[in-house]
Amino acid sequence: MCGIVGYTGFQDAYDIVINGLRRLEYRGYDSAGIVLEDGNNKLEVEKTKGKVDDLVRISENLKGTSKIGMGHTRWATHGVPSDRNSHPHLSNNDKIALVHNGIIENYDTIKTMLTEKGFTFKSETDTEVLVNLIQYFMDLNTETDFPTAVRYALNEVYGAYAITVMHEDYPGVLVVGRLGSPLAIGIGEKEYFIASDASPFVEFTKEAIYLEEGHMATISLENGVDIRTISENSKIEPEIQELKLSLEQIEKGGYEHFMLKEIFEQPKSVHDTMRGRLLVDEGVIKMAGIWDHIEKFKNANRIIIIACGTSWHAGLIGEYLIEEYARIPVEVEYASEFRYRNPIITDKDVVIAISQSGETADTMAALKLAKEKGAFIYGICNVVDSSIARITDAGSYTHAGPEIGVASTKAFTAQLTILTLIAFKLGKHNGNLGNADFMSLIAELEAIPKRIEDVLSSTHELVQNIAKDFVNATNFLYLGRGYNYPAALEGALKLKEISYIHAEGYPAAEMKHGPIALIDENMPIVIIAPKRGHYDKIVSNVQEIKARKGKVIAVVNKGDTQVSAMADYVIEIPETSECFSPIVASVPLQLLAYYIAVYRGANVDQPRNLAKSVTVE
Ligand code: M6R
Repeated sequence: MCGIVGYTGFQDAYDIVINGLRRLEYRGYDSAGIVLEDGNNKLEVEKTKGKVDDLVRISENLKGTSKIGMGHTRWATHGVPSDRNSHPHLSNNDKIALVHNGIIENYDTIKTMLTEKGFTFKSETDTEVLVNLIQYFMDLNTETDFPTAVRYALNEVYGAYAITVMHEDYPGVLVVGRLGSPLAIGIGEKEYFIASDASPFVEFTKEAIYLEEGHMATISLENGVDIRTISENSKIEPEIQELKLSLEQIEKGGYEHFMLKEIFEQPKSVHDTMRGRLLVDEGVIKMAGIWDHIEKFKNANRIIIIACGTSWHAGLIGEYLIEEYARIPVEVEYASEFRYRNPIITDKDVVIAISQSGETADTMAALKLAKEKGAFIYGICNVVDSSIARITDAGSYTHAGPEIGVASTKAFTAQLTILTLIAFKLGKHNGNLGNADFMSLIAELEAIPKRIEDVLSSTHELVQNIAKDFVNATNFLYLGRGYNYPAALEGALKLKEISYIHAEGYPAAEMKHGPIALIDENMPIVIIAPKRGHYDKIVSNVQEIKARKGKVIAVVNKGDTQVSAMADYVIEIPETSECFSPIVASVPLQLLAYYIAVYRGANVDQPRNLAKSVTVE
């Protein structure tokens, strides 16, 4: 949700900012802008609606002109994507420039106050209000220096933000602040980097400070990084962390899109999720986060899983897993609904938050609410040190590696892997999963990366061919039962978000309660029909579809005959225990969505209107 890059040092700031914006474009891509300090302490701004490439077209003349600057790639909240609404925004006196990720909720009240004082506004954004509030505090008392004015302004606003600010009378200085949106400061040799995540500076330094909630920092080559609390101006000792991220991880590695690369990374990412946790020879699952708090789980009245989007689908499968193997009641909630419906939560509840980015605003707010009410909070996040990971009482990282394509793929299968480990571990511990079953299940789990690898090689070409036949489809139904009902929801979400084809997921048996009315010869229906898991019932569902001439794309186990005989297209996956089938079945569904979108000419990694991490409500 908007990407911020800043730089001060000895290199060309234009190159660092532009290359950094390209890496952060997954966060938002409806407009982009840059500001540099020219040699004469003047701020040079270029900004435009569109992508970073569009920005480069209008700004290349700035290349080589400055050693300090900042840029922004936008996901519109206040005001349509337009040149005027793009960041950076300048104050009325043209001296201060600001880039912002997040929402200033009380911007209207402040705008009214500033308007009464004579300020004017060129854009519809909340950001322009904030930059003028900083000018207002500097005008009010000429003794107020730039960082202090930023602090005063931040104390007046509420909402969520990560900001970077420059002032032309303070050459070489960048001021940053954060509340609710992430911001990292890269520490190099005689240079500093600022970015929404570490990817823009990973090739320059491995040392970073992740700015904490409610903190701001003044950064200059002369005085280094001075961190303060926004509320009290108390000095904070910086905590420098070593980055694990590598350049290779954030590049496409020969694939046409990040999404395809990430689909193909799944044998490795699922393996990485299990590494050091699943010890089949010893017959144990080691998860310190669970083990250290086992009493909490053992005595829990129930587990509540909160998440959004794909992570919510993983949560639904988590419910099936934990209820089946650990026999602990589970409820799965959309974070955005949970937080506003006055839920009943007690200190006997365990709340599990699932989030790839660890920054999703709805999930974060729901977690905070649950924490206030005394629940034990467990996080399943992919991004290390993300905001959600940091506020939980305990948790497990999925270790899937950076996921850059907006459509989540490898993070989903990694989330399922963690949930499977948790379910088996709890079940073994509380005696609901006997030793023989436990041993056989964990041996099967260990082989899942190999199963995914097999599916990728046996279905890749086939799915590409199937996709060609559905390029002009306008609707899709996805059906599954049991564990594969959420897998059907996820298949439908993948298709709609990247191809813009309307797609619905349903439990297969629900079809007859409504969606069956949609079925005719033009309706493609993807049906997940593995042998283990209500197969006979699914056979009947397929018969009902074929009686109405629907086009069936069936995901079945190798050697299947009944469903395959009726289906128009057959995709075979290896047979597994039912609980593992969503991991394996999701892979061809990801490929199907990917290739349909590619053949429709859609921008797969940056689908319209979406962003990778949704840091606004
Ligand atoms: O980072 P999170 O897992 O919290 O994100 C939740 C959703 O925004 C995310 O899964 C979204 O639905 C994806 N675009 C799905 O592909």
